Amino acid sequence: MKGVILAGGYGTRFLPATKTIPKELLPIIDTPAIDFIVDEMVQSGIKQILIVSSRRKKALEDYFDREIELENTITNPAQLDKLKTSAQTREDVKIYFIRQQEMRGTGHAVLLGKEFLDGPFVLAFPDDIIFSDVPLSQQLMEAYEKTGKSILAVMDCSGEDLSRYGVVEPSGESIDPIFNLKAIVEKPKKGTEPSQFISIGRYLLTPDIFPLLEEGYRSSSDVEYYLTDGLNQLAEQNKLSACQFTGQRYDTGEPFGYLKTITRYALTRKDLKEEYLQFLKVVINNEV
Ligand code: G1P
Repeated sequence: MKGVILAGGYGTRFLPATKTIPKELLPIIDTPAIDFIVDEMVQSGIKQILIVSSRRKKALEDYFDREIELENTITNPAQLDKLKTSAQTREDVKIYFIRQQEMRGTGHAVLLGKEFLDGPFVLAFPDDIIFSDVPLSQQLMEAYEKTGKSILAVMDCSGEDLSRYGVVEPSGESIDPIFNLKAIVEKPKKGTEPSQFISIGRYLLTPDIFPLLEEGYRSSSDVEYYLTDGLNQLAEQNKLSACQFTGQRYDTGEPFGYLKTITRYALTRKDLKEEYLQFLKVVINNEV
């Protein structure tokens, strides 16, 4: 299976930093946010990953390239290891790039992957990082083995404000972790949500999506054309299901979520955890 990561967006929530730094490269301590997603895919057995970027995101291509000058300068083996991105720890993993030349929406961006893809693929939006025992892409692949349909990764957010998300409408009971979908409603107003399940930025899509996106994009008069339109058509054809994954989602796409991600990651790091916890205690006790 192949992977696609959409990384063309402007990242306006992080201005002014994103005037020059792609939001996908904002570091979660020392590792760019996008590398967590690449790592999730690599750990799931995905070996070819396409990053849909844009002309403002040149640094992304440099990040995934080798840094020969530093390789020749650094002598300490531990530091040399730190030079490697997660994909570079495996010889058989390849990262590819294509540029989205106009920001015409997620549906348009996914279409750019058509020629690279030759079957079902995992699609990631760049903001969501998942901490889980089984990598999320793998969970979706296992769900696909069972249903043969395109799958949305969903989580139960009952009681929360869902108006920032796509909220799914199950077509029957949603008691199992995998269930069929009737529709997805983008950013529903409070009180109109079709369920308590939000779709997060991770999908396993079959090539059935492409003719739907092509037709939708051709006939759309809007500047931006969204993936959700194609997903709703898949749902109409009874070809869309949802997988309630296990793990915790962190949204690096907005400042507070970014801060939480850094905290969560710091607490998994042996070299930082104890000192950081001590520091947090001091902060909480108002001693700084
Ligand atoms: C996108 C999707 C939405 C999903 C969200 C998850 O929205 O369109 O369905 O719930 O990502 O973060 P965006 O955040 O791009 O507005």
